[in-house]
Amino acid sequence: MPTNKPIKHFLQFSDFTLDEFNHVIERARIIKRKFKAYEVYHPLVDRTLVMVFEKNSTRTRLSFEAGMHQLGGAAIYLNTRDSQLGRGEPVEDAGQVMSRMCDIIMVRTFGQDIIERFAANSRVPVINGLTNEHHPCQVLADLFTFVEHRGSIAGKTVAWVGDANNMLYSWLQAAEVFGFHLNVSTPKGYDIDHALVSTGRYSVFADPSEACAGAHLVTTDVWTSMGYEQENAARLAAFDGFIVDAAKMARAAPDALFMHCLPAHRGEEVSAEVIDGPQSVVWDEAENRLHVQKALIEYLLLGRVAGN
Ligand code: CP
Ligand code: NVA
Repeated sequence: MPTNKPIKHFLQFSDFTLDEFNHVIERARIIKRKFKAYEVYHPLVDRTLVMVFEKNSTRTRLSFEAGMHQLGGAAIYLNTRDSQLGRGEPVEDAGQVMSRMCDIIMVRTFGQDIIERFAANSRVPVINGLTNEHHPCQVLADLFTFVEHRGSIAGKTVAWVGDANNMLYSWLQAAEVFGFHLNVSTPKGYDIDHALVSTGRYSVFADPSEACAGAHLVTTDVWTSMGYEQENAARLAAFDGFIVDAAKMARAAPDALFMHCLPAHRGEEVSAEVIDGPQSVVWDEAENRLHVQKALIEYLLLGRVAGN
């Protein structure tokens, strides 16, 4: 039912309160259980998700498309190459037009300014499916995964080893909302831009092994994110020594988890022994994209649904 209420978007992690995240995570648990039990849950019959991809994807496309289908709705995939976005249609016009034909929109693009401009012109909720600056859906899935394995993350320590990229900035926002601490180690020249961070809940370590000391979760990501491919050779050299390997995991808490949003490069940012080892929960993380995003879509379209 259309109302005059301001539209709620999920453009970066800090757009939601702890209370909203706790609701979404609890709904993700319930929706996951229903799915595993083959219980039909179709609250979004006749509703449509549009997915706009300006960068490649496997997990994000699959989890949003399958998730919307499982909620009883439909999902439409658009990319830059085949749509008028690739021929210069202004992002503001695209936001206006797309949001008149569907109920919710996911956008994966380059600069955060692009999704902000799109959302400012949208009549329906917009979800960030990754920008250069943020990847909030992935960190939401990672938090759900941590809670499933270990319970509350409040007061815990998370080690980030590697590039100061979109994942790290979403983790930093999550630290502020959920009340945990981040130990961050990035190579020289690829450091955090402190001006972009609005939390004090992090410490910076020159030595990546020191960052892992005592951590309850160690996480990393590719050294070269999408859109930065021309820097790959320089990055390979600069990130030497930043692999998350068994020696670094040994510095963490004995029951520490390892996470990686994937896709991963074994032998670069993580050793095969770690990502394929007993502390790794990367497949749960990937699967949980499906469940948390279904809960997120439900919340953005239907508000606080109750019941089991
Ligand atoms: N982790 C993640 O967002 O993966 P994709 O790039 O495959 O969507
Ligand atoms: N930091 C990576 C994440 C991919 C899911 C990138 O932006 O390419």
